[in-house]
Amino acid sequence: MEKKIPVIIDTDPGVDDALAIMIAAASEKIDLLGLTPVDGNVQAVHTHQNALNLVSFLGIDADVAEGSYDQLVYRFGRYASSTHGETGMGGVELPVSNRKFHKLRAWDYIYEKAKEHKGELVLIAIGPLTNVARTIIMHPDIRTMLKQIVMMGGSTEAGNVTPYAEFNFLVDPPAAKVVFESGIPLAMAGLNVTLKTGISFDFIADLARESGSKIGGMLNELVHGYSDVKINKEGDRSSVVHDAIAVAYVIDPTKCETEEKRIEIQTDRFLEGTWGQSKVVDGEPNCTVINDIDMDYYRELYRNTVDHFSELN
Ligand code: BDR
Ligand code: CA
Repeated sequence: MEKKIPVIIDTDPGVDDALAIMIAAASEKIDLLGLTPVDGNVQAVHTHQNALNLVSFLGIDADVAEGSYDQLVYRFGRYASSTHGETGMGGVELPVSNRKFHKLRAWDYIYEKAKEHKGELVLIAIGPLTNVARTIIMHPDIRTMLKQIVMMGGSTEAGNVTPYAEFNFLVDPPAAKVVFESGIPLAMAGLNVTLKTGISFDFIADLARESGSKIGGMLNELVHGYSDVKINKEGDRSSVVHDAIAVAYVIDPTKCETEEKRIEIQTDRFLEGTWGQSKVVDGEPNCTVINDIDMDYYRELYRNTVDHFSELN
């Protein structure tokens, strides 16, 4: 059997984060080492507790290393609780975990794991990029140690919070800039792919019914307790599980259509309207932009997740 890809997920759970984490934990291609929570969809105190609750409840053998409670330079101070619910998990209430954080903070944890896994570690970043930027700033030699950073964030088209900026990049544009200027191999699942590849509500409901399992019910509740709803490219009413596209790309990049582009992050505060924009510019590419994904493959990942956690009570 192929060697699993060692992965850390930097995350702000977050309904779509929770689904992305579950898909990663269920994949036989991924060795999920740890989660590093960050301030984002809801206050960091909640994203951290949600991460602990998820690994405890699902029995995922992964560390949780404490991340950032604020942004790199400018405090953002606004949250997406209207989309993800007050505490970030939509309508789902998980038992409160009393697990402890790993002894290292997120930036030191990522660095130590990068050293341990010598060029193999993939960092999947599905929240604002604060922890990731802190890692690069505090441990500059990590630039040559990571295999790739695969992000959900940004857009090559319009934004979802402002006309130009996507939420994760808007929360902490200076952090996104550090990442895009790092020279680390990057891949980006932006709104240009995530908005058209929502998972159909009917598909998830059928999956829950057929499996009759607790996990099937949980997936169904998660997508219903989350208000990012769009008609997907197949014409179905769907839940936009943005963050899962980044995980799907890591599991099998051959199922995605991509292009190499140069992206710059707009951090000039005087150009207020475009703050946080991920702009495609001319020049040497610095990022693999994910443009599309095979939906049959994507649905299969949800089936696999339900099978994997089917024993859950
Ligand atoms: C991104 O922002 C958050 O609301 C989601 O979890 C996702 O990571 C989408 O813009
Ligand atoms: Ca997220």
